Amino acid sequence: MRVDKLLANTGYGSRKEVKKLLKQGAVEVDRQKLKSGAAQVDPDSQEIIVLGEVIEYKEFIYLLMNKPQGVISATVDDIHKTVLDILEFDDAVREPFPVGRLDKDTEGLLLLTNDGKFAHALTSPKKGAAKTYEAIIDQAVTEEDIVSFSKGIVLDDGYQTKPADLQIKEHSATEIYLTITEGKYHQVKRMFEAVGKRVLFLRRISIGNLTLDETLEPGEYRDMSEKEVEELLQEAYTKN
Ligand code: URA
Repeated sequence: MRVDKLLANTGYGSRKEVKKLLKQGAVEVDRQKLKSGAAQVDPDSQEIIVLGEVIEYKEFIYLLMNKPQGVISATVDDIHKTVLDILEFDDAVREPFPVGRLDKDTEGLLLLTNDGKFAHALTSPKKGAAKTYEAIIDQAVTEEDIVSFSKGIVLDDGYQTKPADLQIKEHSATEIYLTITEGKYHQVKRMFEAVGKRVLFLRRISIGNLTLDETLEPGEYRDMSEKEVEELLQEAYTKN
């Protein structure tokens, strides 16, 4: 890839600022000073040093966020704060996007990446991974609801959901876990509406075997490990 793009992606500023760094002789590739932004470099096989620091460049980034309430799962919005607005500069410049959506008032596990294939594998109806939510409902959830959800529920638009696993928490009949294998618009809320109930609070706690990191406060995030990325992809491809 072009060296100026790589440096801009790594957080060394705009193309103009990067050009200045190159002009100053601050960029070395395999110990040779490089002056042209158009020069092609391969970060996997070449050593790239900027201002004396070796660049660690990975083609894609994979972030695991505990999405807070009040921000939307989009890349841009004229009115609301988006999940990109709460990323650090070094991550935002890599232009990640959310993998699927959580509503503005939903919190919990949200992945962000700039790897389109990864995002597609996790969100495609043919692949994907099971998602588990924790919710508080406005009234007691019943054994009958469990049976209905296990058969698939007909939503307001006539769509019949795939079987879903509903569990009532031991200490309270209004608190549940729900695992679904698809991601229709407002699916959890609409499933409960279909049985005459309302979701008061919703948090996603897992995607496949990947669970929400308890150490992450809402609004915090971390890089996914390579193992986590690979395992999730494997799960997505072996589903169905
Ligand atoms: N289902 C919903 O209703 N909302 C979400 O944010 C996610 C799943």
